[in-house]
Amino acid sequence: MRRRSTTAIAILAMAVVVSSAVAQTPTPAAPSAPANLVLADPNLSPAGVRAMAANCAGCHGTNGKSAGGAISGLAGMDREYFAEQMRLFRAGRRESTVMRQIARGFSEAEFAALGAFFAAQKK
Ligand code: HEC
Repeated sequence: MRRRSTTAIAILAMAVVVSSAVAQTPTPAAPSAPANLVLADPNLSPAGVRAMAANCAGCHGTNGKSAGGAISGLAGMDREYFAEQMRLFRAGRRESTVMRQIARGFSEAEFAALGAFFAAQKK
């Protein structure tokens, strides 16, 4: 009886070793995403647009509402005009102190999203 149970434990231990070895064999890499998969740009989500617009608040006021300083507000600005000014800044075709550098950090889709955001803000 005693000897039998020892054998049973030994067999059990071997089974555990074998099964853990099987579990450790590397699983094949997950198939990579198809090349044509287009992932949503997090910057273009509503929260992402608000976060981008927050980068402008220090100079153009919260939500583009000018605090009345020398720098114009962006709230209520026509979205087409907005996007065009951003393109001009980015291309260096509109004179600027800081805006060229800032505009270079954004894509055309982001200009459009920011333009829609500021156009919707009250002046
Ligand atoms: C450090 C201050 C600063 C920050 C931050 C800033 N701007 Fe400006 N912005 C300016 C200044 C100054 C001008 C005037 C042009 C110049 O000198 O660069 C301007 C001009 C503009 C204009 C043209 C306004 C008009 O009436 O024609 C737009 C549009 C604009 N900024 C958009 C933005 C956006 C969008 C952001 C955020 C992504 C931003 N700015 C962040 C300082 C800033």
